[in-house]
Amino acid sequence: MSAFLVEGGAKLYGSTGIHGAKNSVLPILVATLLAPGVSVIHNCPELSDVRASLEILEHLGCRTTREGDTITVDASALTHCDVPDQLMREMRSSVIFLGAILARTGEAKMSFPGGCELGPRPIDLHLAAIRSLGATIEERGGTLFCTGGKSMKGRELVLSIPSVGATENAMLAAVGADGVTTISNAAREPEITDLQTFLQSMGADVHGAGTSIITIQGGLPVRGGEHTVMPDRIVAATLLCATAAAGGEVELDGTDYRHLSTVTAVLTEAGCKIHSGHDCVTIQRTEPLHGVCPIRTAPYPGFPTDAQAPVMAALAASRGTTVFVENIFESRYRHAAELSRMGANIRVEGRVAIVCGVEHLHGATVRAADLRGGAALVVAALGAEGDSEITGLTHLDRGYQDLDGTLRTLGAHITRTD
Ligand code: EPZ
Repeated sequence: MSAFLVEGGAKLYGSTGIHGAKNSVLPILVATLLAPGVSVIHNCPELSDVRASLEILEHLGCRTTREGDTITVDASALTHCDVPDQLMREMRSSVIFLGAILARTGEAKMSFPGGCELGPRPIDLHLAAIRSLGATIEERGGTLFCTGGKSMKGRELVLSIPSVGATENAMLAAVGADGVTTISNAAREPEITDLQTFLQSMGADVHGAGTSIITIQGGLPVRGGEHTVMPDRIVAATLLCATAAAGGEVELDGTDYRHLSTVTAVLTEAGCKIHSGHDCVTIQRTEPLHGVCPIRTAPYPGFPTDAQAPVMAALAASRGTTVFVENIFESRYRHAAELSRMGANIRVEGRVAIVCGVEHLHGATVRAADLRGGAALVVAALGAEGDSEITGLTHLDRGYQDLDGTLRTLGAHITRTD
């Protein structure tokens, strides 16, 4: 079993780049299915979720190659329209393949994605949006059987929740639906805008991403596109939290500070000095952190749920108390129990977590239960006194490329054992 071994207490100094965004490259890889051509995507991170997406594309009949951080997808000739159950289980966000497969082939089949570590992951909004465009979706024995993709028509869609995945699924299906589709109450995450930019490079007529209303003129011919994936704002947030926990001074290059403003505001309130340049963010922490006003997760541009765990880990060793309210996912405090093994004082009551800061954490043997919770354990171990062992790295490998290598370049005492 792989593990990170961390010797806590080393301050972090230096600068590093940020790899491509997992939550942007995944829907962009799906979007390559829409065109019978070759797409080229740059700045693709080496992540297990990316490999899972490439496996699905290959199963569907695409030919994919990777040279460094550039992935080429040749979607000229598809041979299947289903996502195998084993691959659906590997990555539950594969449901966003539904709209693109339907738009390209007219039909699709996939198993109902199960829940995950974050609790139930419903897809009712995905299915409602695609049915509104005219597709037929039957659910039988845990499998979705979808037809009518070639006769989809543009519609006015309204999402009851600004769901990221449902917005992406609806955008991709709408590209293949004749006429104009508007998506109201769309998610406004930067990754949606990145997807729109790629779709535009394919010749698709999509506008409004980043706002609550996205308009797609569907039914137009599309071709292979080319795009450079945006930097991963949650990886950037995680490295900011690592520096806040360990102390030191770190510069993150190629980071759009605007995507991090709610996180940098919290870390500034906690006592860090943060400077934002044109495309970089610098953080310095020399004094002990202190608690901050309640942190409530919300859809973008609110405080990102994906940063909740790393920020909690940084504030676990602080002077004062911080209250967290997790408004997006039902079960996103599994890292709290592991942080408590390191000496944190955290009380979880439903969607609320009360973090009473302690002077310092101590090293321990802990296990990641999910992607961002695992990142939180790394953040905590870096600032803790003593040694930690962190297992469950398959969760981390889904969203962090060479996290230990990046931290080592900044002076962290962390190694990976396989
Ligand atoms: C995306 O998940 C991200 N994943 C998540 O990142 C991120 O936490 C989340 O958006 C919120 O920002 C990817 O982009 C691959 P949602 P997604 O649909 O699309 C409910 C990470 O750590 N909902 O915006 O699944 C849902 O239960 C991952 O990188 C419905 O009720 O999130 C949740 O409570 C974790 N019905 C809320 O909406 C639906 O049909 C927001 O979920 C869909 C969602």
